[in-house]
Amino acid sequence: MKYKASDFTLEEKFQLMTGYAHGMQTNGLQGKLPFLWLSDGPNGLRYLDTSTGVMFTRKSISYPAPVVMANSWSTDVLYKTGVGIADECVENDVAVLLAPGVNIKRTPLCGRNLEYYSEDPYLAGMLAKAFIEGVQSKGVGTSLKHFCCNNREFDRMAQNSEVDERSLREIYLRPFEIALTAKPWTVMCSYNPVNGVYMSENKKYLKGLLREELGFDGLIVSDWGAVHNRVKALKATLDLEMPYNAQSERILSEAYAAGQFTEEELDFCVENVLRLCEKFEEAKPLRKKTLSDEQRLSISKAAALEGIVLLKNEGNVLPIQKNARVVIVGDLAESPVYNGGGSSRVENKHKITPLAECLREALPKAQIDMESGQYFTGAQTRDDAVMFMHTFKKAIEKAEAADMAIVVVGNNNAVEIEATDRYTLRLTPLCEEMIKRISAYNRNTVVVIEAGSAIDMRAWIDGVAGVVFAGFGGEAINDALADILSGKVCPSGKLTETFPLSVEDTPSKTELGNSFTERYAEGIMVGYRWYDSRNLDVLFPFGYGLSYAQFEYSDLRLEKQSETDYLLRYKIKNVSNVDGKEVSQVYVQDVFSMVERPKKELVAFSKDLIRAGEEKEITVQLSADSFAYYSVSFDKWYVENGKFKVFVGASSRDIRLEASLVIQLDEATQQSTR
Ligand code: GLC
Repeated sequence: MKYKASDFTLEEKFQLMTGYAHGMQTNGLQGKLPFLWLSDGPNGLRYLDTSTGVMFTRKSISYPAPVVMANSWSTDVLYKTGVGIADECVENDVAVLLAPGVNIKRTPLCGRNLEYYSEDPYLAGMLAKAFIEGVQSKGVGTSLKHFCCNNREFDRMAQNSEVDERSLREIYLRPFEIALTAKPWTVMCSYNPVNGVYMSENKKYLKGLLREELGFDGLIVSDWGAVHNRVKALKATLDLEMPYNAQSERILSEAYAAGQFTEEELDFCVENVLRLCEKFEEAKPLRKKTLSDEQRLSISKAAALEGIVLLKNEGNVLPIQKNARVVIVGDLAESPVYNGGGSSRVENKHKITPLAECLREALPKAQIDMESGQYFTGAQTRDDAVMFMHTFKKAIEKAEAADMAIVVVGNNNAVEIEATDRYTLRLTPLCEEMIKRISAYNRNTVVVIEAGSAIDMRAWIDGVAGVVFAGFGGEAINDALADILSGKVCPSGKLTETFPLSVEDTPSKTELGNSFTERYAEGIMVGYRWYDSRNLDVLFPFGYGLSYAQFEYSDLRLEKQSETDYLLRYKIKNVSNVDGKEVSQVYVQDVFSMVERPKKELVAFSKDLIRAGEEKEITVQLSADSFAYYSVSFDKWYVENGKFKVFVGASSRDIRLEASLVIQLDEATQQSTR
């Protein structure tokens, strides 16, 4: 160890327990330690430059928001995006990237769902793990966040998340548990209390669970402003309070003098800060800028291409015919909402090319017209909608005369942003009105949605031929959309969050808790687990996404390796004339259990390029984790003997293959069943 706590005075140790000045960095103690600069975020470098005294955000490459990256179902996309963002961190001398966020998408109303990966803990954990590995491969640290149960933004600084132990373990901690295997340099604690104690001072979950049980040996940093009591936070082993708290040194000094904590407790946290400094210094050989902006931009576009989801394609209205007459409607087509708001917002480096221009390049023989209607997305009420409609005549005339209309709609950063939740899943009245008017005059209307979470489409979806969910797709989103809409690239994204028919079908509906506590009454039944358990129809299920290709699944075989380890093999054939990538998903059901279990749980997935006419064999590994539930009686993950079903599907509601197996572990380790 290069640095030891004993090398520092008590005052210096207190100074290390918070940030420095008003920046995003740690205290370098006048050169005794390196300054560590911490920067957001999950879809690009958000470098808050304070060097001029006036804070501004440096321009960086904007990557697709995590919602889009996750819809790729590709750990390769997450890894490469992590490398791209980290390359820019190196260029800006950033030590730690404050990402990824792995909070579970418990309600589609959460304003930060765009920054998270899924409603499913296994998928969220696997994607976060890949992102961490990508970032840290460049010698840049990460901050796995927000630990934990920060599943909505309403009153996030104070509202308690009341969660039972089993749901906490199986759903909300599981993504962290999986992502921790990538050894993130830091974990960020969330603002909210969990089961009545603020996470920033929750010793049971920070020290007992995160460190001692899950084995995290890095630094715990607070979310910005999440510390309520610095002494209690220190005793809970929260190492670094951010942002800089000018009172911290005095508070700690007085508390120490009053014997409220020991030097040993202080040194535990000091050592974690020193270890972070050492990690930064030891990582120097990896910290090399190797990518140009163009290369970073191509990573951003590749992620968008893999994460765009084709949700409806009636009559194969897509891809656009080579010589079609197309009108594009909606100002988002020219100035897309390319990422979320708040701390994840990136100031993109390049001017975004309008969709019409990108499509003209992709389809030189087509006639691509544009009716931007700068006045569309500004309006938020029905009256505005009616008022603007009379000026909408030109767009309707063009749509009537065209072979196809593409309507680009979505939520702006006032609707989906940190510290805010949505109050509805619907688009604004004006966006809905625009879709309905255009589709009334052109049956071949395709709606492109730029949003961060599920959208209630019931008001208009039956009247349109196509729907594409583009998410907040980064600064190359229009280039990517043009490749998908023109057929140059076959869409391969699938939803990682259920789109319910209505918010009333979701577990927490529009309830916001009582601004003191939100009880997670649905327990483990989150996302597709919930809709399955209640046999609820949904608009689009978890894992759903269409392709221009067609895939047939066959020949599922189980190879037993031990009582809980199986190799699963199945084949997928592309029976179309279009090369495509297919995301196949493996779910497990415990047919009979002493506890309530979901009808299916995702335990593996694979994304594979399968060329036209080709058949590929896919192999996935199942292990004890694939069958276990978290036993509160045993305080551990537990596999119960008995029959399990294994499903292989193109989505959670499109099961193509099924098999079953029986687990017969040593009776001595099993408990009696009914
Ligand atoms: C914000 C966010 C967190 C972010 C931090 C620094 O409030 O909750 O995700 O990393 O503050 O900007």
